Amino acid sequence: MPKLAIEDLYLRYGSVEVLKGIDARFEEGSVVCLLGRSGSGKTTLLRSIAGLEEPCRGAIRIDGKPVYDAGQGVNLPPERRDLGFVFQSYALWPHKTVFENVAYGLRLRGRTKAEIGAKVQATLDGVGLGQLADRYPSQLSGGQQQRVAIARALVYEPPVILLDEPLSNLDAKLREEARIWIRALIKRRGITAVFVTHDQAEALAIADQVVLLDGGRLVQSGTPEDLYERPETLFASEFMGTNNTLSVSVAERRDGRALVDLGGHRLWGVDRAGASAGTGRAKGVIRIEAVRLADGAGENRLPAEYETSIYLGNQFEHLFRCGDQTVRLLSDRRAVPGRHWLECPPDRLWVF
Ligand SMILES: Nc1ncnc2c1ncn2[C@@H]1O[C@H](COP(=O)(O)OP(=O)(O)OP(=O)(O)O)[C@@H](O)[C@H]1O
Ligand SMILES: [Mg+2]
Repeated sequence: MPKLAIEDLYLRYGSVEVLKGIDARFEEGSVVCLLGRSGSGKTTLLRSIAGLEEPCRGAIRIDGKPVYDAGQGVNLPPERRDLGFVFQSYALWPHKTVFENVAYGLRLRGRTKAEIGAKVQATLDGVGLGQLADRYPSQLSGGQQQRVAIARALVYEPPVILLDEPLSNLDAKLREEARIWIRALIKRRGITAVFVTHDQAEALAIADQVVLLDGGRLVQSGTPEDLYERPETLFASEFMGTNNTLSVSVAERRDGRALVDLGGHRLWGVDRAGASAGTGRAKGVIRIEAVRLADGAGENRLPAEYETSIYLGNQFEHLFRCGDQTVRLLSDRRAVPGRHWLECPPDRLWVF
């Protein structure tokens, strides 16, 4: 049984439909990332799980038991859902110490002084803030404040924790570090986490399961590898990674492969649209790291004129022109001006 199940969930604000039939299952102990661009409904879905928003149709189950079920008229308030919530803005109390910020919820629940002392200290130790319990939030860095917010959500030992873009206020270096320790912390405690982000690199790094949303709909759900290497739609393929999206015309779709024409040159690719999509105008998507600089003409190769390059430190990104289209690729070598051959491996060129 999944730890958390979302079934055919709809939500509207007035006449605006924001969630349009979301279905998803999250396994116990997994880190799930809700990924999507701004306005796709990530926060709304997270707040619906928490009980902070009321959907209008569908169900949400934790351990098989409904916390919301439109059909049965069930809608538990947030405090009865047993979830930890970390807000983007941290929402710490400025006049309370780190210890008191984390202890507050346990005090409200009437726990004993001894239990509160032990739990708060253990949780602060767990997020690396054991020495800073007596400080006030204003005496902490952004990264440390964010650890306090996470400690506050974890101190009750909730089986499920919800995090809304918890790293978005950190600088790039701290974010990368935080991904690692947050994932390790969640895994160590065996809890189920739903983590909202609009940063695909963050989602790939931190998640066991990525749920891609667009316009209040679920586009694709799967492992990070599924989303990156086996996107099912043009939207998913373009959302992930850095891509060349080429205008092509399809000559043939056969046995899962597609033969396309790009400026008079023939390329084989993976047919992502199915034979019923037929021939004619289509999009070919290939990640920039999949295109190779070849040493001459050959199978699945295109002639291209060198345009320009960007130095990335560990490699170059080169830009080429094929007729009226541009193709970007990564290489550890400089490219010389003039004509080159670019190879698009047939299993890496996706035709939609
Ligand atoms: N209280 C509200 N009233 C009306 N519309 C709302 C309200 N809250 C959110 N919306 C709309 O619902 C849609 C989804 O919003 P939501 O905050 O869930 O997006 P998001 O994916 O979290 O975006 P972001 O990455 O910018 O945080 C948006 O189009 C937004 O304008
Ligand atoms: Mg949001």
